Amino acid sequence: MTRYLVTSALPYANGPIHFGHVAGAYLPADVYVRTLRMLGEDVLYVCGTDEHGVAITINAEKAGQEYGEYVKHWHADIKQTFDELGIEFDVFSGTSQCAQHVETSQEFFTQLDANGFLEKRTTEQLFCPKDEMFLADRYVVGTCYSCGKPGARGDECPSCGTWIDPLQLTEPACKLCGTTPERKATTHWYLDLPKLRDAKIGDWIQNHEWKPNVAAFIQNLLDDVPQRAITRDMRWGVPVPSEVSGDEQDKVLYVWFDAPIGYVSFTKELMAARGTPDAWKDWWQSPDTRLVHFIGKDNIPFHCLVFPSMLYGVQQDYVMPWQVPANEFYNLAGGKFSTSEGRTLDLDTFFETYDREVTRFYILSTLPETADAEFNLDNLVTLNNAALAGNLGNLITRVLKFIAKNNDNQVPQLTEAHREQYDTMMLTDCGEIGDPAEWVTQYRFRKAAETLIANASVANVFMQRTEPWALRKTDPEAAASALNTLCEYIHWLARWMVPFLPNKAQALWEMLGRPGKVADQPWPGVPQRATWRSFEGGEALGEPAALFPRMDAPVAADA
Ligand code: MF3
Ligand code: ZN
Repeated sequence: MTRYLVTSALPYANGPIHFGHVAGAYLPADVYVRTLRMLGEDVLYVCGTDEHGVAITINAEKAGQEYGEYVKHWHADIKQTFDELGIEFDVFSGTSQCAQHVETSQEFFTQLDANGFLEKRTTEQLFCPKDEMFLADRYVVGTCYSCGKPGARGDECPSCGTWIDPLQLTEPACKLCGTTPERKATTHWYLDLPKLRDAKIGDWIQNHEWKPNVAAFIQNLLDDVPQRAITRDMRWGVPVPSEVSGDEQDKVLYVWFDAPIGYVSFTKELMAARGTPDAWKDWWQSPDTRLVHFIGKDNIPFHCLVFPSMLYGVQQDYVMPWQVPANEFYNLAGGKFSTSEGRTLDLDTFFETYDREVTRFYILSTLPETADAEFNLDNLVTLNNAALAGNLGNLITRVLKFIAKNNDNQVPQLTEAHREQYDTMMLTDCGEIGDPAEWVTQYRFRKAAETLIANASVANVFMQRTEPWALRKTDPEAAASALNTLCEYIHWLARWMVPFLPNKAQALWEMLGRPGKVADQPWPGVPQRATWRSFEGGEALGEPAALFPRMDAPVAADA
């Protein structure tokens, strides 16, 4: 049994989650976690909302809400979407809500400082005389010195993506009141990434085996690592520990410093709630742990360079990431998902029409694993009608309804004389298609979903070839044996379905008359001739129902 510590990037508590996020960092992680659990691994899945930073304070101010109230609202909204899509965490906390977060973040800061990986420097920063505040990050706007376009912010330029040095902005202005800021001296702490690179992280990054699309990104990461300011002049955030801040007031840790530490503090919170407060160390400070970060590609520098540097720099035996399966971007047909630009689907309305698990399966089948991909409603409907309703669903409905009608809803008998022939017919093709879990553990979720459907096709072919409803008239024993074989195979499909279609899998499990939770079953792997059968015949089945109703083509206005 291996220990897997799985995280998904903490979503900002700053608006609803959309399918772009879901496809990038959450759904793949959920499928991965569910599969590993059935494979018998020891898994912890940690997430929560990212609740600090200027993007949040500005929007809360705009909304006229207290910061804490504002982030709680979005935390609940985001959590609800995850619930609706069947994405289940062991803990889903928030960086301003978790009781262990301030202390843990401050400890990272203090340790990095004690180990010589922070540098304190006094520099001039932009200050608004009217609001009497330093203009951290997005509190200053101006014209980009790199592309010349207006609308650049103190952290980055949305037009050309340049990381902005606010002091170089042309015509800087206070975001709140438009005043031209002054320069004023202030002290900040910088994470000495060049030093961390030379100490260890550079070699580690170069020698680590990354997912191919991540590796491509990593090449450039080390060439030009700057020291990065990890504190800000503002009040919303984790305060800089007072033993180092001295009389410097109103300084907090930069949101990108405290956010990934959330993975650690949320684990502490969970373990405390379970009554084993020290158990977090078994996960974070054990060399056996496989730490897997699911993220979107824009988070690669932080998860492959900055956070590992922090984990190493505190010198407390923290585990380093094992894999960072970053995805590319997932767009809404024709453009980016963007909450701020209104390019988004209202999920409440969406889920009134579209089945949540079908949506889940569609997103998995179109994940941006190696290149950008897009969500397209026509394709969702096509996938449902072909792969789900037409293939998997059709198989299940035809077999189970036929048995309900003609065999008193009991599993038909297998006759010894037919066993071998039917084993061969069913298992030869299936053996070639293979085990969906093998793709899941390689982060190839599209392939995994395809493999599930291909395995359903095997049974459809078997059904075409044996035609039990016709055969029944000439050779009832053979027909019963064929139907028994189909029941058995559907029993495998139910377990294979769990990571992809968890509720439908459970419904199918009950139609098969099986007790308990299908998710608690061990992963079945590929059926082996000698051991794959479990139905003797005569077992009572549950009520059959259509799992995947056909869908109508979408109305244009939906998309
Ligand atoms: N909130 C960030 C984003 O959505 C991700 C933070 S990931 C963490 O891009 F590791 F920093 F938590
Ligand atoms: Zn101002």
